[in-house]
Amino acid sequence: MLTRKLIGAMMFVLMLSAGGVQAGGDAAKGAELAADCADCHGDDGKGDDEVPGIAGMDAAAHAKKLADFQSGAIDSEMADYVEGLSEQDFADLAAYFATLPAE
Ligand code: HEC
Repeated sequence: MLTRKLIGAMMFVLMLSAGGVQAGGDAAKGAELAADCADCHGDDGKGDDEVPGIAGMDAAAHAKKLADFQSGAIDSEMADYVEGLSEQDFADLAAYFATLPAE
């Protein structure tokens, strides 16, 4: 009985940590990809007069925006800059920018 409970608890923890990595994305990987975004959004992700700031953006909302740019659901020049990126790349980028301070 005890062993079963223990195995159950371990599985639960494993599932949580595995899910966390996927849903949250890998911020370190995102930081590498973000080099391509810095030209416009700035090294700190704060943008300027013409480009919106993306630092501190909610990761889920950010990843969805990138997917919408790619699919064309949002018509934007951003489509060119997310071309060839995967859903995992979106999650990684979003995770990275979520770690940057918005102010
Ligand atoms: C050549 C300039 C340029 C590059 C490179 C670029 N962006 Fe953008 N980005 C823009 C502009 C301009 C907008 C606003 C236009 C729009 O929303 O249609 C924008 C909008 C966005 C938005 C929406 C922000 C909001 O609040 O709605 C996100 C998120 C974003 N970019 C992320 C990224 C990421 C991540 C990268 C790197 C993979 C990137 N951008 C590369 C110019 C750029």
